[in-house]
Amino acid sequence: MRLMNITLIGCGLALGLSLHAQAPKVLSIAADKPGAAIQPTMWGVFFEDINLGADGGVYAEMVKNRSFEFYKPLMGWKVRQQPFREGAVMVVNERTANPANPRYLKVQFPDSVYHSITLSNEGFRGMGVKAGNRYFFSFMYRLPVQAQGALEVRLLDAGGKVLATLNTGKLQVASQWQKVEYTLSATGTEPKASLEISFKGKGSIDIDFISLFPEDTWKGRKGGLRADMIQLLADMKPGFLRFPGGCIVEGHDLNNRYQWKKTVGPVEQRELLINRWNFEFGHRTTPDYFQSFGLGFFEYFQLAEDIGAAPLPILNCGMACQYNTAELVPMADLQPYIQDALDLVEFANGDTGTTWGKLRASMGHPAPFGLRYLGVGNENWGPQYLERMAAFKQAIQQEYPYIQIVGSAGTDPDGDRFDLLNAGLRAMGVEIIDEHYYRRPEWFFSNAARYDNYPAQGAKILAGEYAAQSDRPASPNNKNNWHTALSEAAFMTGLERNAGVVHMASYAPLFAHVDGWQWSPDLIWVDNLKSYGTPNYHVQKLFSLHKGHSVLPISHRGLSLSGADSLYASCVYDSVQKEVVVKLVNAKEVSDTFRLELSGMRISGTVGKAWVIENVQLDWVNSIEQPEKVAPQQKPVVLTARGVSYTAAPRSFQVIRIPVK
Ligand code: AHR
Repeated sequence: MRLMNITLIGCGLALGLSLHAQAPKVLSIAADKPGAAIQPTMWGVFFEDINLGADGGVYAEMVKNRSFEFYKPLMGWKVRQQPFREGAVMVVNERTANPANPRYLKVQFPDSVYHSITLSNEGFRGMGVKAGNRYFFSFMYRLPVQAQGALEVRLLDAGGKVLATLNTGKLQVASQWQKVEYTLSATGTEPKASLEISFKGKGSIDIDFISLFPEDTWKGRKGGLRADMIQLLADMKPGFLRFPGGCIVEGHDLNNRYQWKKTVGPVEQRELLINRWNFEFGHRTTPDYFQSFGLGFFEYFQLAEDIGAAPLPILNCGMACQYNTAELVPMADLQPYIQDALDLVEFANGDTGTTWGKLRASMGHPAPFGLRYLGVGNENWGPQYLERMAAFKQAIQQEYPYIQIVGSAGTDPDGDRFDLLNAGLRAMGVEIIDEHYYRRPEWFFSNAARYDNYPAQGAKILAGEYAAQSDRPASPNNKNNWHTALSEAAFMTGLERNAGVVHMASYAPLFAHVDGWQWSPDLIWVDNLKSYGTPNYHVQKLFSLHKGHSVLPISHRGLSLSGADSLYASCVYDSVQKEVVVKLVNAKEVSDTFRLELSGMRISGTVGKAWVIENVQLDWVNSIEQPEKVAPQQKPVVLTARGVSYTAAPRSFQVIRIPVK
């Protein structure tokens, strides 16, 4: 009997405890009290040519150093001669005739069957070749009347096996530079292929701009972008595309700054520039990293249009990177920089009768690109930045009052530099302030309420570069693991809750090549054939795809969910689908059970949908081999008229859609 009593008491205790542990928290959603409208631009992407993001990445050119303009003219190339003859292959520099692309090769055709000359190109850490795919091989050449010759071209796999061949046949005589193009069809798949060209004939040939592009580019555009990489962006439905950076805008020094005018017009005339990420990090130098600008400002605008994103170009403000040289243009010499900004608006939006609008039309886009935002400076700081910004803003808005100016809050989200810029830009009436945070995951978790008390009036926020660092900023040990992504999701609920203040947000950087990166973490990783989204990518995509149209208050016992009990939540109303959308992070090591209750709207139907990332460990990452190890799963959610009961797994992120009437 005594034993039985004890057992019963024990059961009662256990029952009581478990009842207590499972008592659902009531999360109240005030559907009748909609808050701020969510801007169509809310979740965007930040593009910079870092980590072989453009050349060797999204720009699908497969030949490295196609125009021999790297500081070592034959970098990426190998010349094999059998036997060797002095002067049979020469690098000629004709700077006066062709200042943008002065170098070319002069090749003496081998004059007997006992002599051979072969040129091979290694690509960007190899070339990605796919069986069944076609490749466009092109080059520019001059061939004097007394010469004659042909080229044999091969694609080889890493072991030297031939994957594709072509023979140009006898080339026509050409006294002026002429471009020719041929097609190769690949019989095998290889991520580390190379290109080989043999010369047959007599006399000599001048050859330049040797190029190889896959046929299956994004939208099938010749000389275009890698389709798999752009598809990952398009799948996010980003609200804006920020380009071209990042520090690349500033340059190591002013000579090395990004100048958009040098990136438009015929690709052969776009002057190559060393990429500042080539030498930025001693521990990750990339001596073969240059900017060919095949992906230039026209292509950026076109890409933004393709993926439905508002273009957000960032221009140099007359200051080079302050971590590097901190070079400065005197105020008296700033006008050409300002003129570049004015001309850019004309290039993007101007009538086809204007100088720059005409160029845009000649490149294939007579219609305007609808530019509305213009960033002046990236991570620049100090009174000298404010002084230059004031001059830009005044000049741009005098001519184009509808352009919203984006100003930089510097490198950090707090501190004296930030305070000076924040106050200065607000006083100046800058429309959007660009804040950056590269911080550890703990910072993201504990700053989910960062914008709760930001001024509702005045400048709006572009959270223009952020990423949780599993180690520390710029450390090569940073990982795109679930811990970082979960902390970003928690933080992003705070951005969404404050959509009245935060109008734009983008993770940074965007792309990284597994064999050629300088900076980690990055949103999307690629090799020469494949690409995958990190856990961070999936978080970004979930927020963007379930963006909604207005903020709805969601609270527990009257308080917003921004970290208490490791819970983070935001809620929006999707007025097109007529659905309430809850985003919820449970950062605890235990599950948590909720009841989502709505006031002001009634739940419609009996089944809702959730996209959930759960059952994953904090240190899990995705990879080329396991691209979807951490990815959302879709599952149904039971709805009742009284609300939605939901259990959030430990370390989980979920988007729950509830149809309403
Ligand atoms: O995203 C990498 C770099 O981080 C950007 O170029 C720069 O703006 C920031 O410091």
